Amino acid sequence: SSPTDNGTTSHPNGTLQQLPQIIIIGVRKGGTRALIEMLSLHSAVAAAQNEVHFFDWESHFQKGFPWYLSQMPYAYPDQLTVEKTPAYFTSSKVPKRIHQMNPDIKLLLILRDPTERVLSDYTQVFYNRLQKHKRYQPIESILVKDGEINLGYKALNRSLYYVHMQNWLQYFPLESIHVVDGDELIRDPFPEMKKVERFLKLEPQINASNFYFNKTKGFYCLRDHGRERCLHDSKGRAHPHVAPAILQKLYQFFHEPNKKFFELVGRTFNWK
Ligand code: A3P
Repeated sequence: SSPTDNGTTSHPNGTLQQLPQIIIIGVRKGGTRALIEMLSLHSAVAAAQNEVHFFDWESHFQKGFPWYLSQMPYAYPDQLTVEKTPAYFTSSKVPKRIHQMNPDIKLLLILRDPTERVLSDYTQVFYNRLQKHKRYQPIESILVKDGEINLGYKALNRSLYYVHMQNWLQYFPLESIHVVDGDELIRDPFPEMKKVERFLKLEPQINASNFYFNKTKGFYCLRDHGRERCLHDSKGRAHPHVAPAILQKLYQFFHEPNKKFFELVGRTFNWK
């Protein structure tokens, strides 16, 4: 491949690497992998395989745009390139940096019930530690300290969606950010994906038959040109049991922040 002067890198078969026109900015554990895989069903989309962490990790950002470009998939010139890095949403320096790259970029944000997201976040860290033969304290002892919600638990902050959304809205208009309902994407992915297609002004192509419910997995899986596949086993794991009284506390904790988020985006979600 060779660098050209239009910010792209070309390849002999007519494909090229281009800076993304679409970024899935988060939220961590919102269903970002499902979203990018489902979006990849569309022939006009080329998706980066890995999380790039360009705008949030200083060591990457310092390498500049040539490095960012080198992380992008080879795409046909009429394809749109998308990358997903769930940590972007909650990183306060990222909106400005993405805006400087492209103020017209289309942003996708997938959110789910904030309490459910916390349990999913805990579960991810739990298994990461298990892999390293390390233990993680029980979820209830992290969630509650001295009878109160433990505000020091970082996963709670990541579920304060309005706090992070405010940062993004300082740089991007609401019309540039499409919020995908992550709970709905689990329950019935097809209608959510039609909305994404419309937001991105893609020709309608994603089809109901691209999705089938897999009873063993307990989630929808994808059918792409007759090939069937589910997401990795690390997606769709059981969450730990939490005492109803603690769950209630969490729902209460998120009640006001959720309302603030609904006001910000002019839309409500079915969160507990
Ligand atoms: P859980 O594993 O906690 O259930 P992310 O990719 O952002 O890390 O999000 C992971 C979450 O995507 C999973 O969290 C799961 O609930 C959700 N998800 C949405 N659609 C899914 C699908 N079709 N298959 C598996 N997981 C899916």
